[in-house]
Amino acid sequence: MASKQILVVPGDGIGQEVTAVGKKVLDKIAGKFGHTFTYDEALVGHAAIEATGNPLPDETLAKMKNSDAVLFGAVGHPKYDNDPSAKVRPEQGLLKMRKELGLYANLRPIKLFDELLGASSIKEDILRGADILFFRELTGDIYFGEKGRKNNGDTAYDLAEYSRFEVERIARKAFDSARTRRKKLCSVDKANVLETSRLWREVVQKIAPEYPDVEVEYQFVDATAMLLIKDPKRFDVVVTANLFGDILTDEASQIAGSMGMLASASIGDGTGVYEPIHGSAHDITGKGIANPLASVLSAALLLDISFGMKEESELVISAVDKLLKAGFRSSDIADAGTPAEKILGTEAMGEQVLNFI
Ligand code: NAD
Ligand code: IPM
Ligand code: MN
Repeated sequence: MASKQILVVPGDGIGQEVTAVGKKVLDKIAGKFGHTFTYDEALVGHAAIEATGNPLPDETLAKMKNSDAVLFGAVGHPKYDNDPSAKVRPEQGLLKMRKELGLYANLRPIKLFDELLGASSIKEDILRGADILFFRELTGDIYFGEKGRKNNGDTAYDLAEYSRFEVERIARKAFDSARTRRKKLCSVDKANVLETSRLWREVVQKIAPEYPDVEVEYQFVDATAMLLIKDPKRFDVVVTANLFGDILTDEASQIAGSMGMLASASIGDGTGVYEPIHGSAHDITGKGIANPLASVLSAALLLDISFGMKEESELVISAVDKLLKAGFRSSDIADAGTPAEKILGTEAMGEQVLNFI
């Protein structure tokens, strides 16, 4: 029995709706296993800008640092997406959080539940058995380099930078993880063009001999985008830079059936942050139809990685499996064969998770 302090940071749009479900799941687990989880909430993104003018208020950051783990929703608002001149933006809150908490490793498991084989637009025989774990570097690359305008604003630039140290620490995490899985690591870069990628490949090649039991392959990012759809089963652990990892994992979400199924863990030097890979999805916000399972599976990662509660984490994952086996679907993972009465909204999906825990 353990006592833990969890900070819930729902953010914007469907972040609010799905994080409420993730929190209920943590609470149910605490009750079942006799743990004491205490919760606090904090603002981020558009919600924080409206209240304080700052997408990551100091108070939020301080609470994050003082928590045992953070359950995060999503940030974003169409108001900024359609206004390229906005100086203060919700996404700055997310990026600052990653930098300030030193969250350099973003784990994005592409877990295909057998029941969802038909939910993907990829053929079933190509998909069956796919199981990939992405290690996306999260605090470097073009996201964090110098950016600006020159030539009276007519030229814009974003500098991509990586240090040897940054590449090595994420690569080691990926190698270590591959050792616990199918012992295959694919390092993805664009070393035929980019200097940052040449450093990336040099570093991975240099440390690879320390992991003789891990079979390493190198792929270019464009080819990887193709191979993920052609033959997802060929991948086990994938390690890549911030921007490539962002794009490839949205693509890979279609292996799992939907963006609404993909959880993530952002880990590094201090408090871990657990969040769906999807955004605030304003096209469906307020409709009560968002799939909450990415948040639920993020809660499962939180239990496992930050709290070392393997059994609790597995119970959450098996509850998701059972509700899918019972035929329940949110609309994003329903297919032509799903009866209308089995298509549930966000809260009702959450109730089914609790029911099967
Ligand atoms: P998005 O992930 O919000 O949505 C992409 C598509 O997937 C939409 O059609 C949406 O309805 C669907 N979708 C996403 N999550 C779903 C779920 N749980 N259930 C059912 N359907 C789901 O990406 P976008 O539309 O490109 O971006 C919207 C906003 O979110 C932008 O402001 C962007 O900056 C922000 N964003 C934030 C994060 C984050 O906070 N980590 C991630 C991605 C995008
Ligand atoms: C994600 C998002 C963020 C990213 C944005 C909102 C800054 O797309 O978490 O995947 O690009 O990292
Ligand atoms: Mn993304």
